[in-house]
Amino acid sequence: MPGGAAVAAALEAEHDVLHEMWRDLRDSAGSGDSVVVLTGIDKFTTFCGEHFEHEEENLIKYRELARKKHIAGHQGLMDKLIALRTDIRENSNPNIAALLADWWVAFSNHILDCDRPALERLVSAVPDEPPDKRIWQPPARAEQ
Ligand SMILES: [Fe+2]
Ligand SMILES: [Fe+2]
Repeated sequence: MPGGAAVAAALEAEHDVLHEMWRDLRDSAGSGDSVVVLTGIDKFTTFCGEHFEHEEENLIKYRELARKKHIAGHQGLMDKLIALRTDIRENSNPNIAALLADWWVAFSNHILDCDRPALERLVSAVPDEPPDKRIWQPPARAEQ
């Protein structure tokens, strides 16, 4: 089983990917090209759901405390994202860029309030694999 630091690094890398995807999505919302925005929100929603699953799998595997509250936070963010996707599909809100910005603020707060403390606990509770302790051994002597 990988150590807490490796798990934390992998999940933080997913946060970085989500940030890149969100920036592209925000830029496309400003362009007014609805096909690009729809494709972008679909990809973003899918990857975000996968990220939440990865995080929850690890919270459960490592018996992370307070995971129920954390998982409820993911559900709230997904609900908002799905509502946002519906707004985009139905073209029912003229200010998608503002809704995207609000969602990112909520997600950033979730990272700061839930993810980072959980990952810090993982890093201190689950040490990384010990360094390779093999030492050089002289070749066995041929029996005389
Ligand atoms: Fe989370
Ligand atoms: Fe996360």
